[in-house]
Amino acid sequence: MTDQAATARAHPNIAFIKYWGNRDEVLRLPANSSLSMNLGELHTTTTVQFDPSLAKDELSLKGKAAEPGQTARVSQFLDLVRQMAGSNTFARVESENNFPSGAGIASSSSAFAALALAASAAVGLTLDEQALSQLARRGSGSASRSVPGGFVEWRAADRDEDSYAFSIAPAEHWALTDCIAIVSEQHKSTGSTQGHSLAATSPLQAARVQGAEQRLELCRAAIMNKDFAAFAQVVELDCHLMHAVMMTSQPGLHYWLPASVAVMQAVRDWRSAGIPVCYTLDAGPNIHVLCPVEVADRVTRQLQEIDGVLRVLGSGPGGPARLVTQANRIE
Ligand code: DP6
Repeated sequence: MTDQAATARAHPNIAFIKYWGNRDEVLRLPANSSLSMNLGELHTTTTVQFDPSLAKDELSLKGKAAEPGQTARVSQFLDLVRQMAGSNTFARVESENNFPSGAGIASSSSAFAALALAASAAVGLTLDEQALSQLARRGSGSASRSVPGGFVEWRAADRDEDSYAFSIAPAEHWALTDCIAIVSEQHKSTGSTQGHSLAATSPLQAARVQGAEQRLELCRAAIMNKDFAAFAQVVELDCHLMHAVMMTSQPGLHYWLPASVAVMQAVRDWRSAGIPVCYTLDAGPNIHVLCPVEVADRVTRQLQEIDGVLRVLGSGPGGPARLVTQANRIE
């Protein structure tokens, strides 16, 4: 009997300095380094079971069979794991988020971090954090940043083995809160993978990438010093630069809705009135409003009053990806 199974859990992350565009699409080597925070309240839990009786990989999401495209992406990723382990056994993968899947929270980060850990453990590989982050990166770039805990930096590099993420400060370092204002529950029209491939068609991408290292250093210093004013300035600048690239690529990608813009305006007004708060958006209309935990309740209440905000999810920093259970038994 073969029992090669493991369950792992990982948090999604929100990027403060964004990943947008690849220098190598197959290896998912990013155009620039990025920096993020894991979201401790949200997580994906994934079980992988390698089973010699299977004729192909199977994927279920919250108990329902996944769409063929999703299964194909997971299967392609499992090929990498099989290659590393010298195995040719197919697997059953069951995955579940504790956050609403229609809420537009980028779940590929937690999904591929949890999958990388569960699959490698189930097949009997022991990977250190660096190797695991590197592996998760091949599934989804941002997943590399969901492997280490807390505040995380992912280095851009020309070689596969040099591009991985590491923690710059643990979750306990700074009680930042991400108040996620949900303004749409629709799935995004252009996914990140397609978006990355368009980045280079924008005349602004080269300038964005050129300045990314300096912004990352400013952001890292602001986090280390818990300097919210400096943090707010660089996070919004970096978000605007990425969206400027998106809007000016060919075809252009426009992710904002009127309610996203209303929240941006409100956040700027609150900041002018002395509340430490700023925002960032990924490849979608929902808006991540960041503030120290002390003002999070007030910010959440105020967000709920804005027309078009459907609801607000809140999260502080989270820890690393971790194994929940493991059984490697070949008899
Ligand atoms: C806008 O990691 O989702 O959220 O590698 O194709 O899966 P793939 O892309 P993904 O891209 C994330 C883009 C972003 C910015 C960020 O998280 O840095």
